[in-house]
Amino acid sequence: MAARERRVYQCQACGAEQAKWSGQCPDCGEWNTLVPAVVATAPARKGLAGYSGDAQGGVQELAAIGLGEEERLPTGFGELDRVLGGGLVPGSVVLIGGDPGIGKSTLLLQALVGVAARPGTVALYVTGEESPQQVRLRAERLGLAATGMRLLAETEVDRTLAAAARERPRVMVVDSVQTAYTEMLPSAPGSVSQVRECAARLVRFAKQTATTVLLVGHVTKEGTLAGPRVLEHMVDTVLYFESDQGSRFRVIRAFKNRFGAANELGVFAMTDRGLREVGNPSAIFLSRHDTPVPGSVVMVTREGSRPLLVEVQALLDESHLATPRRVSVGLDPSRLAMLLAVLHRHGGVATYDQDVFVNVVGGVRVSETGADLAVALAVLSSLRGRPWASDRVAFGEVGLAGEVRPVVGGEERLREAAKHGFRLAVVPKANAPRQPPEGIEVVAVQRLQEALEALD
Ligand code: TYD
Ligand code: MG
Repeated sequence: MAARERRVYQCQACGAEQAKWSGQCPDCGEWNTLVPAVVATAPARKGLAGYSGDAQGGVQELAAIGLGEEERLPTGFGELDRVLGGGLVPGSVVLIGGDPGIGKSTLLLQALVGVAARPGTVALYVTGEESPQQVRLRAERLGLAATGMRLLAETEVDRTLAAAARERPRVMVVDSVQTAYTEMLPSAPGSVSQVRECAARLVRFAKQTATTVLLVGHVTKEGTLAGPRVLEHMVDTVLYFESDQGSRFRVIRAFKNRFGAANELGVFAMTDRGLREVGNPSAIFLSRHDTPVPGSVVMVTREGSRPLLVEVQALLDESHLATPRRVSVGLDPSRLAMLLAVLHRHGGVATYDQDVFVNVVGGVRVSETGADLAVALAVLSSLRGRPWASDRVAFGEVGLAGEVRPVVGGEERLREAAKHGFRLAVVPKANAPRQPPEGIEVVAVQRLQEALEALD
Protein backbone atom coordinates (compact mmCIF):
# COMPACT_ATOMS: atom_id res chain seq x y z
CA MET A 1 0.00 0.00 0.00
CA ALA A 2 1.36 3.42 -0.87
CA ALA A 3 1.85 6.16 1.69
CA ARG A 4 -1.10 8.53 1.82
CA GLU A 5 -0.92 12.27 2.27
CA ARG A 6 -2.77 13.97 5.04
CA ARG A 7 -3.36 17.69 5.55
CA VAL A 8 -2.70 18.92 9.07
CA TYR A 9 -1.57 22.01 10.93
CA GLN A 10 1.89 21.63 12.36
CA CYS A 11 3.37 23.63 15.24
CA GLN A 12 6.66 25.24 14.26
CA ALA A 13 7.83 25.19 17.86
CA CYS A 14 7.16 21.65 19.04
CA GLY A 15 6.30 19.77 15.87
CA ALA A 16 2.92 18.58 17.09
CA GLU A 17 0.25 18.01 14.46
CA GLN A 18 -3.30 19.28 14.84
CA ALA A 19 -6.34 18.58 12.72
CA LYS A 20 -7.68 22.12 13.15
CA TRP A 21 -5.99 25.49 13.16
CA SER A 22 -5.94 27.48 16.36
CA GLY A 23 -4.06 30.53 17.59
CA GLN A 24 -2.28 28.63 20.31
CA CYS A 25 -0.68 25.23 20.02
CA PRO A 26 -2.57 22.91 22.40
CA ASP A 27 0.58 20.84 22.92
CA CYS A 28 3.25 23.36 23.82
CA GLY A 29 1.24 26.51 24.40
CA GLU A 30 3.13 28.66 21.89
CA TRP A 31 1.14 31.29 19.99
CA ASN A 32 0.89 31.67 16.21
CA THR A 33 3.00 28.65 15.45
CA LEU A 34 0.51 26.43 13.62
CA VAL A 35 1.03 26.34 9.86
CA PRO A 36 -0.59 24.13 7.22
CA ALA A 37 1.49 21.09 6.37
CA VAL A 38 1.15 17.93 4.39
CA VAL A 39 2.39 14.77 6.04
CA ALA A 40 2.66 11.30 4.63
CA THR A 41 1.09 8.52 6.62
CA ALA A 42 2.69 5.12 6.44
CA PRO A 43 0.40 2.30 5.39
CA ALA A 44 -1.01 0.53 8.43
CA ARG A 45 0.48 -2.84 9.26
CA LYS A 46 -1.88 -5.61 10.07
CA GLY A 47 -1.35 -7.35 13.37
CA LEU A 48 2.11 -8.52 14.22
CA ALA A 49 2.83 -9.95 10.80
CA GLY A 50 6.54 -10.00 10.24
CA TYR A 51 7.27 -10.45 13.92
CA SER A 52 7.01 -14.23 13.91
CA GLY A 53 9.77 -14.61 16.46
CA ASP A 54 11.61 -17.48 14.85
CA ALA A 55 14.93 -15.82 14.13
CA GLN A 56 16.91 -13.96 16.79
CA GLY A 57 16.03 -10.73 15.02
CA GLY A 58 19.26 -8.94 15.93
CA VAL A 59 18.87 -9.53 19.66
CA GLN A 60 22.19 -10.25 21.31
CA GLU A 61 23.56 -11.09 24.71
CA LEU A 62 24.68 -7.82 26.28
CA ALA A 63 27.96 -9.28 27.51
CA ALA A 64 28.71 -10.63 24.04
CA ILE A 65 28.73 -7.19 22.45
CA GLY A 66 32.24 -5.94 21.78
CA LEU A 67 33.15 -2.73 23.55
CA GLY A 68 34.71 -1.34 20.38
CA GLU A 69 37.67 0.89 20.76
CA GLU A 70 36.12 4.06 22.09
CA GLU A 71 38.76 6.01 20.33
CA ARG A 72 38.22 9.73 20.50
CA LEU A 73 39.40 12.16 17.92
CA PRO A 74 40.86 15.41 19.27
CA THR A 75 39.73 18.59 17.52
CA GLY A 76 42.86 20.54 18.25
CA PHE A 77 40.95 22.69 20.72
CA GLY A 78 41.50 21.39 24.26
CA GLU A 79 38.57 23.46 25.49
CA LEU A 80 36.19 21.96 22.93
CA ASP A 81 37.48 18.43 23.54
CA ARG A 82 36.85 18.73 27.27
CA VAL A 83 33.30 19.95 26.71
CA LEU A 84 32.76 16.98 24.39
CA GLY A 85 33.99 14.67 27.13
CA GLY A 86 37.45 14.07 25.67
CA GLY A 87 37.20 14.54 21.91
CA LEU A 88 34.87 13.46 19.13
CA VAL A 89 33.29 10.01 19.39
CA PRO A 90 32.96 8.06 16.11
CA GLY A 91 29.36 7.78 15.01
CA SER A 92 28.14 10.46 17.38
CA VAL A 93 26.05 13.46 16.39
CA VAL A 94 26.76 16.81 17.99
CA LEU A 95 24.43 19.78 17.66
CA ILE A 96 25.96 23.21 18.19
CA GLY A 97 23.52 26.02 18.78
CA GLY A 98 24.17 29.72 19.09
CA ASP A 99 23.14 33.19 17.99
CA PRO A 100 23.97 34.29 14.46
CA GLY A 101 27.46 35.75 14.25
CA ILE A 102 28.64 34.23 17.52
CA GLY A 103 31.30 32.20 15.69
CA LYS A 104 29.85 28.73 15.15
CA SER A 105 31.13 28.50 11.58
CA THR A 106 34.51 29.87 12.62
CA LEU A 107 34.84 27.39 15.48
CA LEU A 108 33.91 24.39 13.35
CA LEU A 109 36.10 25.45 10.45
CA GLN A 110 39.09 25.74 12.78
CA ALA A 111 38.27 22.46 14.50
CA LEU A 112 37.79 20.66 11.20
CA VAL A 113 41.09 21.90 9.82
CA GLY A 114 42.65 20.57 13.02
CA VAL A 115 41.04 17.18 12.40
CA ALA A 116 42.04 17.12 8.73
CA ALA A 117 45.64 17.85 9.66
CA ARG A 118 45.95 14.34 11.08
CA PRO A 119 47.31 12.03 8.41
CA GLY A 120 44.73 9.79 6.80
CA THR A 121 41.77 11.66 8.29
CA VAL A 122 39.21 13.00 5.87
CA ALA A 123 37.11 15.93 7.09
CA LEU A 124 34.14 17.26 5.14
CA TYR A 125 32.57 20.68 5.59
CA VAL A 126 29.10 21.00 4.07
CA THR A 127 28.12 24.63 3.77
CA GLY A 128 24.54 25.62 3.13
CA GLU A 129 24.84 29.25 4.15
CA GLU A 130 28.05 30.45 2.61
CA SER A 131 29.59 29.94 -0.80
CA PRO A 132 32.79 27.87 -1.12
CA GLN A 133 34.63 31.12 -1.89
CA GLN A 134 33.47 32.65 1.38
CA VAL A 135 34.63 29.63 3.34
CA ARG A 136 37.96 29.64 1.52
CA LEU A 137 38.35 33.36 2.21
CA ARG A 138 37.69 32.84 5.88
CA ALA A 139 40.21 30.00 6.07
CA GLU A 140 42.69 32.29 4.34
CA ARG A 141 42.05 35.11 6.77
CA LEU A 142 42.44 32.74 9.70
CA GLY A 143 45.74 31.55 8.29
CA LEU A 144 44.54 27.96 8.23
CA ALA A 145 46.37 25.42 6.14
CA ALA A 146 43.31 24.36 4.17
CA THR A 147 44.87 21.27 2.66
CA GLY A 148 43.25 17.97 3.44
CA MET A 149 39.85 19.44 4.14
CA ARG A 150 37.01 18.74 1.74
CA LEU A 151 34.28 21.26 1.06
CA LEU A 152 30.80 20.84 -0.34
CA ALA A 153 28.19 23.52 -0.98
CA GLU A 154 24.92 21.62 -0.80
CA THR A 155 21.62 21.90 1.01
CA GLU A 156 19.75 18.84 -0.27
CA VAL A 157 20.41 16.25 2.38
CA ASP A 158 20.32 13.17 0.17
CA ARG A 159 22.89 14.63 -2.19
CA THR A 160 24.95 15.59 0.86
CA LEU A 161 24.82 12.03 2.13
CA ALA A 162 25.64 10.61 -1.30
CA ALA A 163 28.73 12.82 -1.41
CA ALA A 164 29.63 11.83 2.12
CA ALA A 165 29.31 8.16 1.24
CA ARG A 166 31.84 8.72 -1.55
CA GLU A 167 34.24 10.83 0.51
CA ARG A 168 34.05 8.66 3.62
CA PRO A 169 34.95 11.44 6.05
CA ARG A 170 35.66 10.70 9.70
CA VAL A 171 34.13 14.02 10.65
CA MET A 172 31.46 15.95 8.79
CA VAL A 173 30.09 19.40 9.57
CA VAL A 174 26.66 20.44 8.30
CA ASP A 175 26.31 24.23 8.50
CA SER A 176 23.43 24.59 9.16
CA VAL A 177 20.67 22.05 9.80
CA GLN A 178 18.10 24.79 9.13
CA THR A 179 19.24 25.20 5.53
CA ALA A 180 19.17 21.45 4.88
CA TYR A 181 16.11 20.05 3.14
CA THR A 182 14.97 16.88 1.47
CA GLU A 183 13.03 16.78 -1.79
CA MET A 184 10.88 14.05 -0.31
CA LEU A 185 8.97 16.61 1.75
CA PRO A 186 6.98 19.50 0.28
CA SER A 187 7.60 21.94 3.11
CA ALA A 188 10.19 24.72 3.00
CA PRO A 189 13.75 24.37 4.39
CA GLY A 190 13.87 25.37 8.03
CA SER A 191 10.35 24.15 8.75
CA VAL A 192 9.90 21.69 11.56
CA SER A 193 9.27 18.67 9.40
CA GLN A 194 12.28 19.40 7.19
CA VAL A 195 14.65 20.01 10.08
CA ARG A 196 13.46 16.88 11.81
CA GLU A 197 13.65 14.68 8.75
CA CYS A 198 17.08 15.97 7.68
CA ALA A 199 18.45 15.51 11.17
CA ALA A 200 17.04 11.98 11.28
CA ARG A 201 18.78 11.09 8.02
CA LEU A 202 22.05 12.57 9.16
CA VAL A 203 21.83 10.71 12.49
CA ARG A 204 21.17 7.45 10.67
CA PHE A 205 24.14 8.06 8.40
CA ALA A 206 26.39 8.80 11.38
CA LYS A 207 25.43 5.61 13.17
CA GLN A 208 25.70 3.40 10.10
CA THR A 209 29.08 4.68 8.94
CA ALA A 210 30.66 5.66 12.30
CA THR A 211 31.10 9.18 10.97
CA THR A 212 31.08 11.97 13.52
CA VAL A 213 28.50 14.53 12.40
CA LEU A 214 28.50 18.07 13.73
CA LEU A 215 25.30 20.00 13.08
CA VAL A 216 25.06 23.76 13.35
CA GLY A 217 21.69 24.90 14.67
CA HIS A 218 20.32 28.41 14.90
CA VAL A 219 18.65 29.58 18.05
CA THR A 220 15.48 31.61 18.28
CA LYS A 221 15.36 34.95 20.03
CA GLU A 222 14.30 33.14 23.19
CA GLY A 223 17.61 31.29 23.08
CA THR A 224 16.34 27.81 22.33
CA LEU A 225 17.26 25.84 19.26
CA ALA A 226 15.05 26.67 16.32
CA GLY A 227 13.10 23.68 15.23
CA PRO A 228 11.44 21.03 17.29
CA ARG A 229 12.69 19.97 20.66
CA VAL A 230 12.94 16.48 19.24
CA LEU A 231 16.20 17.60 17.65
CA GLU A 232 17.73 17.66 21.11
CA HIS A 233 16.56 14.11 21.73
CA MET A 234 17.80 12.79 18.42
CA VAL A 235 21.42 13.82 18.79
CA ASP A 236 24.00 12.57 21.29
CA THR A 237 25.36 15.90 22.38
CA VAL A 238 23.95 19.42 22.45
CA LEU A 239 26.38 22.29 22.85
CA TYR A 240 25.52 25.95 23.14
CA PHE A 241 27.92 28.65 22.04
CA GLU A 242 27.21 31.85 23.93
CA SER A 243 28.65 35.20 24.83
CA ASP A 244 27.93 38.25 26.84
CA GLN A 245 26.62 41.19 24.83
CA GLY A 246 29.56 42.92 23.20
CA SER A 247 32.14 40.71 24.85
CA ARG A 248 34.84 39.03 22.81
CA PHE A 249 34.74 36.01 25.08
CA ARG A 250 32.74 33.01 24.03
CA VAL A 251 31.60 30.19 26.23
CA ILE A 252 30.74 26.77 24.92
CA ARG A 253 28.53 24.75 27.20
CA ALA A 254 27.40 21.14 27.10
CA PHE A 255 23.65 21.08 27.60
CA LYS A 256 23.33 17.36 27.01
CA ASN A 257 26.09 14.84 26.49
CA ARG A 258 25.81 11.09 26.15
CA PHE A 259 29.59 10.84 26.15
CA GLY A 260 30.63 13.20 28.91
CA ALA A 261 29.51 15.47 31.71
CA ALA A 262 26.75 17.96 30.99
CA ASN A 263 27.38 21.52 32.19
CA GLU A 264 31.00 21.33 31.14
CA LEU A 265 32.28 24.72 30.03
CA GLY A 266 34.91 25.78 27.49
CA VAL A 267 36.06 29.35 27.06
CA PHE A 268 37.26 31.04 23.87
CA ALA A 269 38.13 34.55 22.82
CA MET A 270 37.25 35.90 19.36
CA THR A 271 40.30 37.59 17.86
CA ASP A 272 41.10 38.91 14.40
CA ARG A 273 42.66 35.51 13.71
CA GLY A 274 39.60 33.53 14.71
CA LEU A 275 38.86 31.82 17.99
CA ARG A 276 41.56 31.32 20.54
CA GLU A 277 41.26 29.16 23.63
CA VAL A 278 41.32 30.80 27.01
CA GLY A 279 43.37 28.53 29.20
CA ASN A 280 42.77 30.41 32.41
CA PRO A 281 39.12 31.42 32.38
CA SER A 282 38.99 32.42 36.03
CA ALA A 283 40.91 35.57 35.16
CA ILE A 284 38.15 36.91 32.89
CA PHE A 285 35.28 36.52 35.33
CA LEU A 286 36.95 38.65 37.97
CA SER A 287 36.73 42.40 37.64
CA ARG A 288 39.60 43.18 39.95
CA HIS A 289 38.95 46.50 41.60
CA ASP A 290 41.85 48.74 42.62
CA THR A 291 40.33 49.20 46.03
CA PRO A 292 37.77 46.82 47.53
CA VAL A 293 34.18 47.94 46.91
CA PRO A 294 31.09 47.03 48.94
CA GLY A 295 28.82 44.39 47.46
CA SER A 296 31.46 42.49 45.53
CA VAL A 297 32.44 38.99 46.63
CA VAL A 298 34.51 36.41 44.76
CA MET A 299 33.23 32.86 44.87
CA VAL A 300 34.59 29.58 43.65
CA THR A 301 31.90 27.88 41.62
CA ARG A 302 32.12 24.75 39.54
CA GLU A 303 31.25 24.49 35.91
CA GLY A 304 31.25 20.85 34.95
CA SER A 305 34.44 19.32 36.22
CA ARG A 306 36.34 22.55 36.68
CA PRO A 307 36.42 25.10 39.49
CA LEU A 308 35.95 28.67 38.35
CA LEU A 309 36.47 31.92 40.20
CA VAL A 310 33.60 34.28 39.58
CA GLU A 311 32.72 37.61 41.10
CA VAL A 312 29.19 38.15 42.34
CA GLN A 313 27.96 41.70 42.88
CA ALA A 314 25.04 42.88 44.95
CA LEU A 315 23.52 46.31 45.17
CA LEU A 316 20.94 47.18 47.80
CA ASP A 317 19.09 50.43 47.60
CA GLU A 318 16.32 51.84 49.73
CA SER A 319 13.05 50.99 48.00
CA HIS A 320 10.04 53.23 47.54
CA LEU A 321 7.92 50.48 46.10
CA ALA A 322 5.23 48.55 47.90
CA THR A 323 6.95 45.39 46.69
CA PRO A 324 10.69 46.01 46.57
CA ARG A 325 12.48 44.79 43.50
CA ARG A 326 14.53 41.59 43.43
CA VAL A 327 16.59 41.35 40.29
CA SER A 328 19.13 38.63 39.69
CA VAL A 329 21.29 38.18 36.63
CA GLY A 330 23.08 34.87 36.25
CA LEU A 331 21.39 33.42 39.32
CA ASP A 332 18.06 31.75 39.99
CA PRO A 333 15.65 34.45 41.31
CA SER A 334 13.90 32.06 43.68
CA ARG A 335 17.26 31.06 45.15
CA LEU A 336 17.90 34.76 45.83
CA ALA A 337 14.50 35.17 47.50
CA MET A 338 15.26 32.17 49.69
CA LEU A 339 18.67 33.53 50.67
CA LEU A 340 17.16 36.89 51.62
CA ALA A 341 14.68 35.10 53.87
CA VAL A 342 17.43 33.02 55.50
CA LEU A 343 19.53 36.16 55.96
CA HIS A 344 16.64 37.75 57.79
CA ARG A 345 15.67 34.85 60.02
CA HIS A 346 19.10 33.47 60.80
CA GLY A 347 21.39 36.42 60.24
CA GLY A 348 19.23 39.26 61.47
CA VAL A 349 19.70 41.07 58.15
CA ALA A 350 16.46 42.75 57.05
CA THR A 351 16.05 43.62 53.38
CA TYR A 352 12.28 44.05 53.12
CA ASP A 353 12.67 47.81 52.53
CA GLN A 354 15.46 47.41 50.00
CA ASP A 355 15.59 46.88 46.26
CA VAL A 356 18.05 44.02 45.76
CA PHE A 357 20.07 43.58 42.58
CA VAL A 358 22.48 40.67 42.18
CA ASN A 359 24.72 40.14 39.19
CA VAL A 360 27.22 37.43 38.32
CA VAL A 361 30.09 39.08 36.43
CA GLY A 362 31.06 38.01 32.92
CA GLY A 363 27.74 36.58 31.80
CA VAL A 364 28.26 33.34 33.71
CA ARG A 365 25.10 31.56 34.79
CA VAL A 366 25.56 29.89 38.12
CA SER A 367 23.24 26.97 38.66
CA GLU A 368 24.90 25.26 41.62
CA THR A 369 24.16 25.96 45.24
CA GLY A 370 27.81 26.60 46.10
CA ALA A 371 27.17 30.25 45.25
CA ASP A 372 24.81 30.78 48.22
CA LEU A 373 27.38 31.88 50.76
CA ALA A 374 29.00 34.39 48.41
CA VAL A 375 25.62 35.87 47.46
CA ALA A 376 24.64 36.24 51.12
CA LEU A 377 27.95 37.93 51.88
CA ALA A 378 27.62 40.26 48.88
CA VAL A 379 24.13 41.29 49.98
CA LEU A 380 25.31 42.05 53.50
CA SER A 381 28.41 43.83 52.22
CA SER A 382 26.31 46.16 50.08
CA LEU A 383 23.74 46.75 52.82
CA ARG A 384 26.38 47.68 55.36
CA GLY A 385 28.54 49.52 52.85
CA ARG A 386 31.46 47.44 54.01
CA PRO A 387 33.76 45.95 51.40
CA TRP A 388 34.86 42.32 51.38
CA ALA A 389 38.65 42.22 51.17
CA SER A 390 39.79 41.56 47.62
CA ASP A 391 42.02 38.63 48.59
CA ARG A 392 39.12 36.58 49.95
CA VAL A 393 36.82 34.01 48.47
CA ALA A 394 33.79 32.13 49.72
CA PHE A 395 31.70 29.14 48.70
CA GLY A 396 29.11 26.92 50.31
CA GLU A 397 25.43 26.07 50.26
CA VAL A 398 23.10 27.79 52.71
CA GLY A 399 20.17 25.77 54.07
CA LEU A 400 16.81 27.02 55.29
CA ALA A 401 17.83 26.38 58.89
CA GLY A 402 20.71 28.80 58.52
CA GLU A 403 23.30 26.03 58.30
CA VAL A 404 26.19 26.09 55.84
CA ARG A 405 26.39 22.83 53.92
CA PRO A 406 29.33 21.34 52.07
CA VAL A 407 29.54 21.31 48.29
CA VAL A 408 31.35 18.96 45.91
CA GLY A 409 34.96 19.56 45.01
CA GLY A 410 35.93 21.58 48.07
CA GLU A 411 39.67 20.92 47.85
CA GLU A 412 39.78 21.63 44.15
CA ARG A 413 38.04 24.95 44.71
CA LEU A 414 40.52 25.90 47.39
CA ARG A 415 43.43 25.00 45.14
CA GLU A 416 42.01 27.16 42.33
CA ALA A 417 41.60 30.10 44.72
CA ALA A 418 45.16 29.67 46.05
CA LYS A 419 46.47 29.48 42.49
CA HIS A 420 44.98 32.88 41.76
CA GLY A 421 46.55 34.48 44.81
CA PHE A 422 43.61 34.52 47.21
CA ARG A 423 44.72 34.44 50.84
CA LEU A 424 41.59 33.58 52.77
CA ALA A 425 38.60 31.34 52.06
CA VAL A 426 35.35 31.10 53.98
CA VAL A 427 34.06 27.58 53.43
CA PRO A 428 31.65 25.03 54.95
CA LYS A 429 33.21 23.14 57.85
CA ALA A 430 32.85 19.80 56.10
CA ASN A 431 34.79 21.16 53.13
CA ALA A 432 37.76 22.37 55.21
CA PRO A 433 40.79 20.19 54.53
CA ARG A 434 43.17 19.16 57.27
CA GLN A 435 46.00 20.68 55.31
CA PRO A 436 44.90 23.75 53.32
CA PRO A 437 46.68 24.46 50.05
CA GLU A 438 49.85 26.53 50.27
CA GLY A 439 49.28 30.24 50.79
CA ILE A 440 45.59 30.25 51.70
CA GLU A 441 44.00 30.40 55.11
CA VAL A 442 40.72 28.55 55.57
CA VAL A 443 37.91 29.79 57.79
CA ALA A 444 35.49 26.92 58.34
CA VAL A 445 31.90 27.84 59.22
CA GLN A 446 28.86 25.83 60.21
CA ARG A 447 26.27 28.58 60.51
CA LEU A 448 25.47 31.50 58.24
CA GLN A 449 25.90 33.79 61.23
CA GLU A 450 29.57 32.76 61.59
CA ALA A 451 30.20 33.44 57.91
CA LEU A 452 28.67 36.90 58.15
CA GLU A 453 31.08 37.70 60.97
CA ALA A 454 33.95 37.13 58.55
CA LEU A 455 32.92 40.38 56.91
CA ASP A 456 34.72 42.82 59.13
P1 TYD B 1 30.64 33.13 12.25
O1 TYD B 1 31.53 32.00 12.54
O2 TYD B 1 30.30 33.41 10.84
O3 TYD B 1 29.31 33.05 13.11
P2 TYD B 1 28.07 32.05 12.98
O4 TYD B 1 28.46 30.95 12.09
O5 TYD B 1 27.84 31.63 14.41
O6 TYD B 1 26.93 32.86 12.47
O7 TYD B 1 31.34 34.39 12.94
C1 TYD B 1 31.16 35.63 12.40
C2 TYD B 1 31.61 36.70 13.35
O8 TYD B 1 32.88 36.48 13.88
C3 TYD B 1 31.65 37.99 12.60
O9 TYD B 1 30.87 38.93 13.33
C4 TYD B 1 33.08 38.38 12.57
C5 TYD B 1 33.71 37.60 13.67
N1 TYD B 1 35.07 37.15 13.33
C6 TYD B 1 36.15 37.69 13.97
O10 TYD B 1 36.04 38.58 14.79
N2 TYD B 1 37.41 37.22 13.67
C7 TYD B 1 37.60 36.24 12.75
O11 TYD B 1 38.76 35.85 12.52
C8 TYD B 1 36.46 35.70 12.10
C9 TYD B 1 36.60 34.62 11.06
C10 TYD B 1 35.23 36.16 12.41
MG1 MG C 1 27.66 30.51 10.23
